[in-house]
Amino acid sequence: MGEKHLVRFEPVGIEIEADEDQTVLRAAAEQGVLLMHGCKEGQCASCKSFLLEGDDVELDRYSTFALPDYEKEEGFTLLCRAHAYEDLTIELLNYDEEMIRSGLPIVRAVVEVVSAEHVTHDLRHLIVRLVEPAELKFFPGQYLDFAIPGTAETRSFSMANVPGRAGGRLEFVIKIYPDGLFSRFLDTQVHPGDRLEVSGPFGAFTLRDAPGADLVFVGGGAGMAPILSLLRSMAERGIDRKATFYYGARARRDLCFEQELRALEETLPSFRYVPALSEPGEEDEWDGATGLITDVLRRSESDLAGADAYVCGPPPMVEAALDLLPKLGVAEKRVFYDKFTTTGEPDGP
Ligand SMILES: Cc1cc2nc3c(=O)[nH]c(=O)nc-3n(C[C@H](O)[C@H](O)[C@H](O)COP(=O)(O)OP(=O)(O)OC[C@H]3O[C@@H](n4cnc5c(N)ncnc54)[C@H](O)[C@@H]3O)c2cc1C
Ligand code: FES
Repeated sequence: MGEKHLVRFEPVGIEIEADEDQTVLRAAAEQGVLLMHGCKEGQCASCKSFLLEGDDVELDRYSTFALPDYEKEEGFTLLCRAHAYEDLTIELLNYDEEMIRSGLPIVRAVVEVVSAEHVTHDLRHLIVRLVEPAELKFFPGQYLDFAIPGTAETRSFSMANVPGRAGGRLEFVIKIYPDGLFSRFLDTQVHPGDRLEVSGPFGAFTLRDAPGADLVFVGGGAGMAPILSLLRSMAERGIDRKATFYYGARARRDLCFEQELRALEETLPSFRYVPALSEPGEEDEWDGATGLITDVLRRSESDLAGADAYVCGPPPMVEAALDLLPKLGVAEKRVFYDKFTTTGEPDGP
């Protein structure tokens, strides 16, 4: 444990204590303050904030794409990488009054693998059950960090299920990369009955309460997981807001959970599922939408004023959607997203 310092967040006027050994984001989370964040690894810029008072801040490794040098010199910082060495006042640039006080306690847990079936050629549906503790509270759309055995590394994976499943069951959709540290381990070494360590919940990709607003979900690849969790939770809670889920895949073999999504159209009469293929083969006999999912969205929607948008998946898809949605009328503050950044090699210090 290091020395502790007071960190005050403006304009919300919330104060926390941060130990020098932990990041400001982590300290806030442990004190039930949910600040905006995505990757927690200095890659996505969701947690970017501005130092109003105090400048004795050390940053762990981050990407200069998330925080270019000129911004750092101006006083911007990444809360997921920042350690405070004196009292600080920080201006939050991106915060959500509805969420900030709703933080759930972060817990470490042991889970046991139940199954890890393929749902496509490169997506696995990992099901685990909580062993200790037997329960873990989270909001639909949030994620857990999985420790990779034998390393000091973790990887983030979003829950696809809704909270409170019998037997402490948690579901994930995980993309397998041939050289991926976690995903290769999952693909080649994990068997039912194995135990894994997780911590969480993290993330702010949760359904905001806005009963009158239409919903647009945009997803690709494993971005299916948190969106499925949000949709399943809407079905469970009977939230029948007008909602459309645009899901992008390359070919038919990349689509998953089709039956369930079609069934959700029955349960939620105002919900529509629009899968689109960017590279359909002849064997696909596809008569649905084609093209990149953001192009399909552009062609299908001309006025999304007043809507809430939820975007999740690979970073290029998320970037394209973040650029497009405001042009279609969605207020920037009403676009919620999780960028599935990979850990890779950050190019920062
Ligand atoms: C908030 C958040 C939530 C996430 N939720 C999920 C989820 O629900 N499901 C899921 O599958 N993933 C999710 N991810 C991504 C996940 O955490 C891992 O980064 C990803 O699975 C890769 O981990 P890995 O250990 O298998 O590969 P790594 O060891 O990180 O990568 C190994 C190699 O694979 C390459 N590689 C990795 N990713 C890519 C890529 N996207 N494109 C091209 N090459 C790549 C790298 O360049 C590297 O050479 C999430 C990420 C974040 C930040
Ligand atoms: S850069 Fe801090 S959460 Fe992604």
